[in-house]
Amino acid sequence: MSNKNIIQHNHSVSQENRASIKGQKPCILWFTGLSASGKSSIANAVELKLSAVHRHTYLLDGDNVRMGLNRGLGFSDEDRVENIRRIGEVSKLFVEAGLIVLTAFISPFQKERDLVRELVSDDEFIEIFIDTPLEVCESRDPKGLYQKARKGEITHFTGISSAYEAPSNAEIHIKNVNISVEEVADKIIKYLKDKGYIDA
Ligand code: ADX
Repeated sequence: MSNKNIIQHNHSVSQENRASIKGQKPCILWFTGLSASGKSSIANAVELKLSAVHRHTYLLDGDNVRMGLNRGLGFSDEDRVENIRRIGEVSKLFVEAGLIVLTAFISPFQKERDLVRELVSDDEFIEIFIDTPLEVCESRDPKGLYQKARKGEITHFTGISSAYEAPSNAEIHIKNVNISVEEVADKIIKYLKDKGYIDA
């Protein structure tokens, strides 16, 4: 809802000031993929590697954010859209704070991922498709949710009873079979070095 009585403030300390104190280039590493595709584990491994080289980061993770900021949102298409919209806005704020933000949400719809992309500058949004076949995710089933979804005990489950739109323009596409979390994390770190986000 727009409110004509809300007027934007211009602050004296800019994103550039905050980022330069940290000596880094802020960006969003937006992980997308099915439930149990490996997004959270990989994002966690990447954050650890960034932290080891003293980069300032923050990891926003699906299940955790749904326990706090987005408590009350479910898995209807409408609620998922709102989930991602809020995460996008929070990520943008963290980029303005000068951080390297990592997000691990299914984020199943191309339109919402593109909306987040549009919130920041071109080189500040790095979409990372964790491409794990449904059969593999379902065989892992760490939380037993696929089994429940197959039995109809959970509705709107991504890949079973709700759509997942694979990215068509991801900056990084990881085929996540027969490769370790560590190796995937190294590939992502290499991308960040090659593109000048972090020092080589
Ligand atoms: S998103 O679609 O809105 O981006 P999000 O990443 O926040 O989803 O949450 C996904 C996590 O919620 C899954 O990893 C799983 O643990 C849990 N979950 C519970 N119900 C569902 C459902 N119907 N579909 C997908 N994930 C679900």
